[in-house]
Amino acid sequence: MRIVSISNQKGGVGKTTTTMALGAALALRGLRVLVVDLDPQGSLTAAAGVELGDGDHALKTLMSHYLATQQVPPLADCTWLLEEGLDLLPTTIDLAACEFALHQAPRREYVLAKILAATGSYDRVLIDCPPSPGLLTQNALTAADAVLIPLVPEYLAARGLVGMLDAIDLVRRSELNAKLAVAGVILTMVDPRTSHGRQTREEIAGFLGGRIPILGEVKRSVKAAEAAAAGQSILRYAGRSELARAYSAIAEALCAPSREAAYA
Ligand SMILES: Nc1ncnc2c1ncn2[C@@H]1O[C@H](COP(=O)(O)OP(=O)(O)OP(=O)(O)O)[C@@H](O)[C@H]1O
Ligand SMILES: [Mg+2]
Repeated sequence: MRIVSISNQKGGVGKTTTTMALGAALALRGLRVLVVDLDPQGSLTAAAGVELGDGDHALKTLMSHYLATQQVPPLADCTWLLEEGLDLLPTTIDLAACEFALHQAPRREYVLAKILAATGSYDRVLIDCPPSPGLLTQNALTAADAVLIPLVPEYLAARGLVGMLDAIDLVRRSELNAKLAVAGVILTMVDPRTSHGRQTREEIAGFLGGRIPILGEVKRSVKAAEAAAAGQSILRYAGRSELARAYSAIAEALCAPSREAAYA
């Protein structure tokens, strides 16, 4: 099992869209995939078309139970089948209150790692992070084998990238997760027509300097919002669209043997 955290402290860069689309693209490649909604806003849960009722369990149920007992309850009680090979661990706004309780817990950065360690039957787990560097994101970076960073190639994108790389460095050096790798960057909402976009892309590539790969580019498309509104992945909603093909290519790049070895 490999755990990939989809993270950027900047908001609205395509983390949730990327988690859903990549999860579906990896599942279509025959992998068993779990996507985890770690954002109390629950955007991934909504984009997956899942509406939780009062009695339904969510990530908060697992966290609260673990905090109270140090035991992980059966994950299957909380997951939803979205598409063949693709499951969701959903979230409600209650996760925000749970984050508060998490602050008081011993080894508070390791709670998600413990929960995900009990999800042995998946080949890949993708975590959709909130747009902030708080304890939830720290839990994701502690649990993950690798981080994938979506970036919009616009003014100040590189600054967000520096903040993210610093956070990753801190997690490595503090030994929360010394083996955390950067799988790469994905450029999202790319508008190839503007010279500003082209220039920023070159700046980002120059900044990364070949040390961190750009795994792919996803153009701006209204289909991203349409798929979310339909509660489906872009691969199911519009499988032949440019957006679906871009995410399939990124899934392929992510599965390349050389890339896998880099964070095995
Ligand atoms: N390639 C794209 N083209 C056009 N719109 C997109 C694209 N990818 C995502 N979007 C839209 O941009 C908005 C933000 O995307 P998304 O929610 O995936 O970002 P996020 O980084 O998860 O945001 P947040 O930081 O709030 O969690 C959404 O309305 C989404 O539908
Ligand atoms: Mg999001």
